[in-house]
Amino acid sequence: MPEPPEELLALSRSLCNKMVDAISTSGPMPFDHYMRMALYEPGLGYYVNGLHKFGQAGDFVTAPEQGRIFATAVARQIDEAAGQLGHDWTLLEIGAGSGALARDLLEILGQPPSRYLILEPSAPLREIQAETLAGLSDNLRTRIEWLSSPPEEPFDGVIVANEVIDALPVKRFEMTDDGPAELAVTVAEDRFDWTPVAPSPRLEQAWQSIANTLPHPLPVGYRSEICVDLPAWFDTVTRPLKRGLALMIDYGYPRAEYYLPERSDGTLVCHYRHRAHFDPFVWPGLTDLSAFVDFTAVAETAVDCGLEVAGFTNQSGFLLSLDAHEIVEQADDDATRLRLAGEFKRLAMPGEMGERFKVIGLTRGFDWPLSGFEVMGQLHRLEG
Ligand SMILES: C[S@@+](CC[C@H](N)C(=O)[O-])C[C@H]1O[C@@H](n2cnc3c(N)ncnc32)[C@H](O)[C@@H]1O
Repeated sequence: MPEPPEELLALSRSLCNKMVDAISTSGPMPFDHYMRMALYEPGLGYYVNGLHKFGQAGDFVTAPEQGRIFATAVARQIDEAAGQLGHDWTLLEIGAGSGALARDLLEILGQPPSRYLILEPSAPLREIQAETLAGLSDNLRTRIEWLSSPPEEPFDGVIVANEVIDALPVKRFEMTDDGPAELAVTVAEDRFDWTPVAPSPRLEQAWQSIANTLPHPLPVGYRSEICVDLPAWFDTVTRPLKRGLALMIDYGYPRAEYYLPERSDGTLVCHYRHRAHFDPFVWPGLTDLSAFVDFTAVAETAVDCGLEVAGFTNQSGFLLSLDAHEIVEQADDDATRLRLAGEFKRLAMPGEMGERFKVIGLTRGFDWPLSGFEVMGQLHRLEG
């Protein structure tokens, strides 16, 4: 990987020093605490230190950053749902990144929402989003409102979250003869390292709720993750949805695949300058750190929160169901067709984003069929 410049290394060292101080004071740090600091420690964490860059200049490229095909498909699904919601509906986007999806949705939607709420905890990212959205017409721009916590007022509408759940801190565990030990972070010979500790009550409780749903017992030494923050986070972000649809898109698996015997070192993945690696202790604060999403857990949480699981598929199925491939065929000239074909391939091919990324459609008070899940609908894969 390319070595970061000295001023960035200095920032990462400041974050490491804070982590080391916390470990010296309180002992080994549970991994979810480490991940929270690596991503959100004020002024230093990856999402809040103001260094975050998007697209080719950044560390990874998300689907809305590839072009407009993804946004066009999402807009088709939203337009279909909004048609059932009446004129006064709200769109809540969670974790809007560069603002590219917000910009494209507002421009593409046939019936734009009365309000486009952006729930974005990162102040530097809110500034980047405002720049991206500055070029919209006044009529569209004035519908946008930024929030740092979920809206209090209930609304009829649509919630969209692309690549947000993977950023929620996860607990990491290692199986022993007596069940899971919690993996915490310690310092050994001037480096962060893993150390097993007794599982916290939250890990034990989360483990109890999934252990019986796994097709095979996990062998001793098996390491993986559980997102114990998911239920509380999901409840707060979806509670204001009175009637409508939530679309959540992310890399992940149904539970039976998440905890496959061969995935014995878990699903953590780090991104730095378009290189993926699996060591979360490398340059915290400069490196994106995420875990794949257990979509069975998302579905169970949704049901516990009073939503219905209306559809589940992979990104490829979602795009094909919404005829996104036709965007390529309808290009005006060969050069555009070639560019769009490349974009579609990256989004939809199984070896690229097409299979790794999943889309889940959740509804409340709304039982209209969702076209995005018609081709290759895979709800059955969520069952434990
Ligand atoms: C990987 S980026 C994805 C950005 C954008 N959705 C996209 O697809 O390009 C993750 C986004 O989620 C936001 N985020 C991280 N944790 C969050 C949380 N707990 N609640 C809401 N947003 C969060 C980040 O600040 C960032 O905007």
